Amino acid sequence: MAQTPSFSREAMKQYKWFLSRYPTRRAALLPTLRLAEQQFGELGVAEMRYVADLMKISPAAVFGVVTFYTHYRRAGTGKFHLQVCSTLSCALRGSEDVVTRISERLGISPGETSECGLFSLSKVECLGSCDTAPMLQCNDDYHEGLTLEDVDQLIEQLRSEASQGVNG
Ligand code: FES
Repeated sequence: MAQTPSFSREAMKQYKWFLSRYPTRRAALLPTLRLAEQQFGELGVAEMRYVADLMKISPAAVFGVVTFYTHYRRAGTGKFHLQVCSTLSCALRGSEDVVTRISERLGISPGETSECGLFSLSKVECLGSCDTAPMLQCNDDYHEGLTLEDVDQLIEQLRSEASQGVNG
């Protein structure tokens, strides 16, 4: 049976600091979810339920927040999460071509994860880097001003990192 997630002593200290910084417990949900993501690696049902119990918020409300924002790493996401901005500036500068190229190279569509578990692909809203369109976010890193050649190189680089055991 899987172990129930639980914050470390350090994470709990951080959580309590969050609570001291916000007017209501619920207002601290976003940073608490980020903390849970850092502590547990991803947010699945068990992790969301843990946060809900901890914060005395309904699990449905926590699920709603996690699934509304694209910034949280949800359970089942590949080692490398390629999030292609599809909002106006990026769309005008070829983001759909970027998505198509990634799909062709990896054999997955937006919303899917490769069979090897390395890559997930998503189309997301503006990531705040409109002047460097088209761009994508891979885990915590931005890749900007992308050409299709850049996309090919990025995929090869990530495959190489994975084969060498470099953390993504
Ligand atoms: S439109 Fe793509 S980063 Fe803003």
